[in-house]
Amino acid sequence: MFGTYDIPDQRNLLDRTRQGLIGAPLERPESGLKVCGVAPYAAEHHPPNCAEGVLVTATIPQGRVIALHKDEVLAMPGVLGVFADKRMLRRPAQGTAGKAPVQDVRAVEYHGQPIALVVAETFEQATHAAKALRVEYEASATVPLDPEGLETEPGRKPVVLGDLDQAMAEAAHSVDLTFTTEGHASAAMEPHASVAEWQGDDLTLWGSFQMISHNVKELADSLRIAPRHVRIRSAYVGGGFGSKLGISHDAVAAAIAARELGRPVRVVLSRQQVFDTITRRSETGQRLRLALDAGGYLAGIGHEAWVSNLPDEPFAEPVTQATEFLYSGENRKLAVNLARISRVTSGSVRAPGEAVGMQVLEAAMDELAEKAGFDPIELRKRNLPSSQPGKDRPYSSRMLIEALDQGARAFGWQDRKPRPCMTREGEWWLGMGVASAARVNMLRPAAARVRLEPDGSLRVQSDQTDIGTGSYAILGQIAGEMLGVPIARVTVELGDSSLPSGAGSGGSFGASSTGSAVFRACEAIRDKLAHRLGVPIEALELRDGMAIASGREVAVIELLRGEAMEEIGRIKPGKTDKDYAQASYGAFFCEVAVNAFTAETRLRRMLGAFGFGRVLNARTARSQCLGGMVWGIGSALTEELGFDLRDGQMTNHDLAGYHVPCHADIPALEVILLEERDAPASPIQAKGVGELAICGAAAAVANAIYNACGVRMHDFPMTPARLL
Ligand code: MOS
Repeated sequence: MFGTYDIPDQRNLLDRTRQGLIGAPLERPESGLKVCGVAPYAAEHHPPNCAEGVLVTATIPQGRVIALHKDEVLAMPGVLGVFADKRMLRRPAQGTAGKAPVQDVRAVEYHGQPIALVVAETFEQATHAAKALRVEYEASATVPLDPEGLETEPGRKPVVLGDLDQAMAEAAHSVDLTFTTEGHASAAMEPHASVAEWQGDDLTLWGSFQMISHNVKELADSLRIAPRHVRIRSAYVGGGFGSKLGISHDAVAAAIAARELGRPVRVVLSRQQVFDTITRRSETGQRLRLALDAGGYLAGIGHEAWVSNLPDEPFAEPVTQATEFLYSGENRKLAVNLARISRVTSGSVRAPGEAVGMQVLEAAMDELAEKAGFDPIELRKRNLPSSQPGKDRPYSSRMLIEALDQGARAFGWQDRKPRPCMTREGEWWLGMGVASAARVNMLRPAAARVRLEPDGSLRVQSDQTDIGTGSYAILGQIAGEMLGVPIARVTVELGDSSLPSGAGSGGSFGASSTGSAVFRACEAIRDKLAHRLGVPIEALELRDGMAIASGREVAVIELLRGEAMEEIGRIKPGKTDKDYAQASYGAFFCEVAVNAFTAETRLRRMLGAFGFGRVLNARTARSQCLGGMVWGIGSALTEELGFDLRDGQMTNHDLAGYHVPCHADIPALEVILLEERDAPASPIQAKGVGELAICGAAAAVANAIYNACGVRMHDFPMTPARLL
């Protein structure tokens, strides 16, 4: 079964099947393996005779390597080789599928950039030798280390509609605010690692990746070989958050060294190397202008930002992405500009764009509501357009009003004090804040194989990854539901490039896209079963291994006649992709306590209500929402990459210095999953949820801080030092 998705399927089969799997809060089938430590991550593959590689990284911010004193370390115990092949230094940008710029091995572009790989018999020998390797540099300083105040170049196509300046001049109420956000790290628990093994001209690489079909092309392109010679295996991935969308230095370096040495090579990044060399989220400066007319309707929105990246890197954190469709206002100016600096490549980090864009838009909306005398929920609700401004296309579905209303009721929003500094508890000021959530939705090309075995059990196969999000569970649920097979008889195999290409895990599109491919394959199998039973497809019901139609009940294994039935389902975005503005929506409610003396902010509780189309698994969806809110809280209060402006070195390149929230920071989170179907979004009427719950979460915290103590914060994270 193959095809683009062109016509919304309003009467969806998944609402008529009776197996009871869709949406059920099932546990992930691999969770037991993970808890017991037997689900192998990339670094845990031990091919016989495997050598160990350790990357050497630059200790200057810019310049050239003029000498590597290889001979000294080649004489050290156990050392097998020092590799500085120019192919291995491809920057780990995402989704480039063979188009990433390949660096000159000798050119140092940022502090911490890999410049060589040392391989030895043991990890300790390799680490020792990598530290001992003497490198001579010729330093230069042509690219600035600090983005503040730099000239910029356009990073994204600007949106200019009407006359924003005039709308601002004529506004009954307006705000004109400048925000800053700091850089973020993906900080996935599993460090990047690669184990490379060659058999003749064919490479097998165990790695930690999000987008395997792209990653195969990137690796083949780096090595100058055909993609058919590369097999990537990544069955279990310990978190990605964007940092594993593309391949990184470890993969190319391990492959090159393994080929040269004629034996498998493993390269595992240290935690510090992950921070130093893997894509980060850009810091941003964002100016928000909102113009409200006398009737309380938005007449204009301005969102102009600068973000940073290395020279000639195309990625520009798309912070205006949700501003393009979320609120009304016909006069608009949206722009993202790039400052070119010498810091590790910036790229996609969970919810690129909206994570820090919604964070400031929703803080600005709160200030506007206060100025205009509106309840912040009311201001949002009255400014939701009926079609996307400037594009004149309808929304596929939008549960924002429901999220705001249901969230407000469940949270107890009516108890919020209308003005700051009205609730004090000992030395703590208490306050509540609200913010909208929005994140664009995407359907990506995907394929999956579904096989109904002669014994009635079911096998689902795709190179789709599971980065801890629940792909194994969800794809099994869709197939089991569609073909009436109990979940215990469903096996899901993922993360191997020899399987049909799934969408991969990125942009929150994995479950809806690869899930739709599984759905399509199952439709084809249902067709065949109906044909064998001699009934129209609409009449066929499949449940617990039985085919039921027109009063007849036959075991599916009888219809199979001793043979497996197999189909590959494929899906590509089609007309519905362009004809509708597609996004997932939600609302955050947050209560904080701010210490009147130390300015420390403690979260009291937070609630999110989210609508993202059909819920495929209520447990994994809820977990994604919890994780998103935790990120939002980190972004609000603690997370920031630090850089030494003298030499460009990252100053907090580990989880001791880079502060993600811990359990004590997160006392009480609640998630409401709204009932929704989004027919234009995907054949299974599901949208993305993975990134939704970070988008705007930090603004709810900022708005609660203001409601508590009367201080408006425009610089994130809102640390005590900044709040005092
Ligand atoms: Mo995501 S930041 O596209 O993994």
